[in-house]
Amino acid sequence: MTDRTPAIDERRLWSDLMALAEITDAARPWTRRSFTPLFDQGRDWLRRRFAEAGLAVRLDAAANLFGRLEGSEPGRPVVMLGSHSDSVPSGGRFDGPAGVIAALEVARALRESGRTLRHPVEVVDCLAEEPSDFGLSCIGSRAMAGLLAPEMLDYRGPGGERLGDAIDRVGGDTARLATARRSDVAAFLELHIEQGVVLERSRTDIGIVTGIVGIVRLELVFLGEAAHAGTMPMAMRRDAGVAAARLVGFVSERAQALAQLGRGYVVATTGVIEVAPNAINVVPQRGRVVVDVRAEDAALLDAFVAEIEAEARCIAEATATVVERCATLSRATPAACDPRLRTLLAEGAAARGLSSLSLPSGAGHDAAFLSRIAPAAMVFVPCREGRSHTPEEWAEPAAIAAGAATMLEAVLRFDAGAAAG
Ligand code: GLV
Ligand code: MN
Ligand code: MN
Repeated sequence: MTDRTPAIDERRLWSDLMALAEITDAARPWTRRSFTPLFDQGRDWLRRRFAEAGLAVRLDAAANLFGRLEGSEPGRPVVMLGSHSDSVPSGGRFDGPAGVIAALEVARALRESGRTLRHPVEVVDCLAEEPSDFGLSCIGSRAMAGLLAPEMLDYRGPGGERLGDAIDRVGGDTARLATARRSDVAAFLELHIEQGVVLERSRTDIGIVTGIVGIVRLELVFLGEAAHAGTMPMAMRRDAGVAAARLVGFVSERAQALAQLGRGYVVATTGVIEVAPNAINVVPQRGRVVVDVRAEDAALLDAFVAEIEAEARCIAEATATVVERCATLSRATPAACDPRLRTLLAEGAAARGLSSLSLPSGAGHDAAFLSRIAPAAMVFVPCREGRSHTPEEWAEPAAIAAGAATMLEAVLRFDAGAAAG
């Protein structure tokens, strides 16, 4: 092969992205939930595309999917690029897949150019980045960082299936989970749609992420007493629905107040609210909420979570209910992106004539977990009106190709820099 300048093929990148998107629940586009048959179909398609690109395909013990391009210097650590192929229910076509396909396109561009880097390059589709039906997100990247705790494997999903069994079902080998832990990664880069409006509003091509918020997911269950909605006097009720609702209000109001403190980005959402028996004429016996709390500042995040737990106890007292369960389902500490990789990305964007700016990420990403074991950084590309986790999610083909080109430039610079160093 002749040695040419590697170039991103925008049309090929786009047509791959659209082809992967077609593997969706037809009744609920764009849905490809982790651990479902559709997820497996998406993975089969990716496996084929990786192999056609000349990458060596493998699954690790945590069912992360890799395509590897060898480097010229055996023993060099890996430059890893990628994101996730799973989606939220009725999500978009870009959140996750854009990063996997852009990574594939970078590897393809390198291979086709005939240029062999000193480092091996691995394209990764991390298992289950979105909160899965087992109540856990970033399962594959957690495992690569050695942070998929044994008790998490016992989380239960649909039909009572153990998470560990589900990982094995999609090709993992949780008996050997420790082998998924990586200590050979020189750098991790993830391309992602911004999921916000900063780039679009400022007409900037590329976002270079400074850091990723920490995320704590907290499950709280209030237990009261079921009663007749018509005959039980208000003063005698033990209404677990009211307790849950009060907590929802507290979480939102407190997050708004904390966001005014000037200690960085803070948000909190109660996206799961369930009452039982959930009947129109029955005082709820059980109220379950799952709260997602995010902040850039680690101390603020911990303090906010502690406040929510304390408030739940006060609410229980005031409503004559009890807090039956108060459990941290997952905890990801805020993650800073690597300054050197950020510089390489900024230089890469400039080399391609692209404008760039720095910004924090309020969304969680696999890069947050990879940053525990390797220098990690992220490239954001603009998306329409900042919309994401919805079928209307949209990013222009040229915007994604520009992000891929920026990543490619950074990879070339990283490889050359490592050679000189
Ligand atoms: C990932 O999509 C998140 O919840 O931030
Ligand atoms: Mn997402
Ligand atoms: Mn994502």
